[in-house]
Amino acid sequence: MCGIVGYIGNKNTQEILLAGLKELEYRGYDSAGIALLDQNKIEVFKALGKLHNLEEKVNTNKEYPLGIGHTRWATHGKPTELNAHPHMGEYSYVVHNGIIENYKELKEELMKVGHKFVSQTDTEVIVHLFEFFYNKTPNSKEAFLNTIKKLEGAYSILLISKVDPDNIFFFKHGSPLIVARGLEKGEVLFSSSDSPLIGLSNEVVYLEDGVGGIANKDGINFFNDNVTWAGLPTSKQFAQKDGFRFFMEKEIYEQSDVVTDSMIGRLGENEISFDEFPASLIDGIEEIKICACGTSFHAGLTASYLFERLARVRCSVEIASEFRYKDPLLNKNTLFIVISQSGETADTLEALKMAKKAGLKTLVVCNVDNSSMTRVADATILTRAGVEKGVASTKAFSTQTVVLWMMGLYFANHKNTITKEKLEEEIKALREVPQALIIQDEMHEKTKRLSKRYLHGHGFFFIGRDVFFPLALEGALKLKEISYLHAEGYPAGEMKHGPIALADPELFTIALMPQNLLYDKIKSNVEELSARDSTICSISPLEFDLSDDFIRTKKTNHYMLEFFEMLVALQLLSMEISVRLGNDVDMPRNLAKSVTVE
Ligand code: F6R
Repeated sequence: MCGIVGYIGNKNTQEILLAGLKELEYRGYDSAGIALLDQNKIEVFKALGKLHNLEEKVNTNKEYPLGIGHTRWATHGKPTELNAHPHMGEYSYVVHNGIIENYKELKEELMKVGHKFVSQTDTEVIVHLFEFFYNKTPNSKEAFLNTIKKLEGAYSILLISKVDPDNIFFFKHGSPLIVARGLEKGEVLFSSSDSPLIGLSNEVVYLEDGVGGIANKDGINFFNDNVTWAGLPTSKQFAQKDGFRFFMEKEIYEQSDVVTDSMIGRLGENEISFDEFPASLIDGIEEIKICACGTSFHAGLTASYLFERLARVRCSVEIASEFRYKDPLLNKNTLFIVISQSGETADTLEALKMAKKAGLKTLVVCNVDNSSMTRVADATILTRAGVEKGVASTKAFSTQTVVLWMMGLYFANHKNTITKEKLEEEIKALREVPQALIIQDEMHEKTKRLSKRYLHGHGFFFIGRDVFFPLALEGALKLKEISYLHAEGYPAGEMKHGPIALADPELFTIALMPQNLLYDKIKSNVEELSARDSTICSISPLEFDLSDDFIRTKKTNHYMLEFFEMLVALQLLSMEISVRLGNDVDMPRNLAKSVTVE
């Protein structure tokens, strides 16, 4: 959520900053800006909306020894140019990722002593605080440290000032920030995630909370010694669309390959192993609690069915933002699992910290190595989906679900709740998942054709039972996110307890009707909706005479294989409806990829 970059060096600063922001644009695209500093001269460019608007505005070829940049997802203050970062005082500029919770009090105090504010953001107080302290005692390091002491909330910050034109001041507390040595002597780079740094650096520090410092062309001086240098991945190939129209489309098509990666080294001939997590982590565990947000929550909900069914272990699932403030009862014999694509989602991260503090064993199922959650949890299982750029999550969900299904079997084996034959049967099904995720042209074409019909109406119900209920939630979320149409996911059996009152021909029901799980039950639920004239689109291997439309999935002998095939159908359908409506599939309005504010 929001992206920040910084650069010190002899290359073209504006080009490096803009290229970095391009990599981070998916994190927020309400506005973007850069500030370039050369001794007494600061040049600032800001633009509303997507990054190309800023690129068109940056019209200088002058050389600047350093600069900072930002791409914004608005939290405080509407998306306007005035609210775009970098924010300025009289002689300093700041970019910030996160939220300053006490900004109102700070702003009032600063205004009383004559500081003038031009934006509605929380960020602007940072630069004014810095100048307030500097005006009292002209020592920039001291002014920066005093500023940090005053801030409450989550933030990563880069600050530059004419009074100290060789330096970039930086600090991390709660929001991610990486500092990197460039490949050339005297180069320093900053970024809120590692993708802008790839190819420009081999050595980085993923800053811990409470760590900051001052950087210039002579090096990086940290305020404390709590830093560890690390390497960086070298491949940038993920940034390409590879001929697909959208990152989302590419990522849907990649699922078959990436779930194979998720299984490598874990799925044996007739057993499942996870080197990453010691068996001691589950010894004595009586209960599992899963916590996550959004799509990752849906993967967690799916896992709860699998864990209870296969491993006979009690499993509850909570939305992280709810869990944090409910004063939860935590039992030490609970394994606390968080699920997150980014590993940075603020609510999930805080829930993880709470559980750890309460003495629970913790595990994160995550896609991004070195992310904040992987550094907090006792153990990490990486999902290995590769970089996911589409804001609407696709391959993150399929890899999470595969990993969690394998974990369910691992627990089951460990607890002796599964027979050898049943385990072999499940492993055989797992091996068939990559095949189930290969997209048939016929299915994609069908979703394109259906997208013409499913554009209007007053809403969508996605319905399913058992694991197909979280899948229905996920289908509805995908449609909402990128088409902006109203959609709800429901357990099919719940319809008659209220929602069925909405049924009429303008209500579209997307019914998940697996052959291998509760087919007759869901069939009755769909019949009830059809009897009330709802327009029905069934997704199933079996044709159903009451359906108005039908997406055919392959016949298999395991409901989880049907699950993955239906997942693809839902992802494609929402993408094609979004395309038909002319929306931006990869960067839907009001959203950002990684939600680092609560
Ligand atoms: C939906 C989506 C979001 C995320 C949620 C959690 O397509 O992407 O709902 O799933 O913000 O993000 P992570 O998994 O990074 O914690």
